[in-house]
Amino acid sequence: MKTKNNNIVLIGFMGVGKGTTARALSKSLKTVNLDCDDLIESSQNMKIKEIFEQHGEKYFRNLEKNLAKFLTTNVKNTIISTGGGFVNVKGLNKIGTVIYLKASFEAIIERLKNSANSEKKMAKRPLLSNLTKAKELHKTREKIYEKKADIIIEVEQKTPKQIVKEIIKNLQKR
Ligand code: S3P
Repeated sequence: MKTKNNNIVLIGFMGVGKGTTARALSKSLKTVNLDCDDLIESSQNMKIKEIFEQHGEKYFRNLEKNLAKFLTTNVKNTIISTGGGFVNVKGLNKIGTVIYLKASFEAIIERLKNSANSEKKMAKRPLLSNLTKAKELHKTREKIYEKKADIIIEVEQKTPKQIVKEIIKNLQKR
């Protein structure tokens, strides 16, 4: 099944690899990828961390809401990687086929810690500053991701290449 806009929307927890997957997928499908956080940062001319610090989370969520409307109306044939909380916008499924990249909290933290620039990657995410709270958020969000997803891909221990292959296989089944 294709959505009207023929977009693919990648959802999942912070650090699970939505951006990496979007880049690999767009290369493989010979299309373009957009990242929601990048679009918000450039439109505000501020980093996500600064937006949280100076305006608060509610303000950021409002920016996500407005971006969702923009994507629904204006974007087609694109791979869209979202921020971890973008799943809560209204009408997510109207934007495109929603794919949840699923991994345990422990595997996500391990992935971040082992990646290049790991400190920077942790520091740029305000909601990862307290790992106890972040773990609770992962637990709450998991249910929401599963509910909103058209396709669920388990990504733990998999390379971007394997993940892309699995996504394409699942899309072809629909
Ligand atoms: C958030 C995830 C972040 C970013 C912001 C809030 C969240 O994006 O949008 O820090 O609420 O889970 P990533 O999922 O790309 O880290």
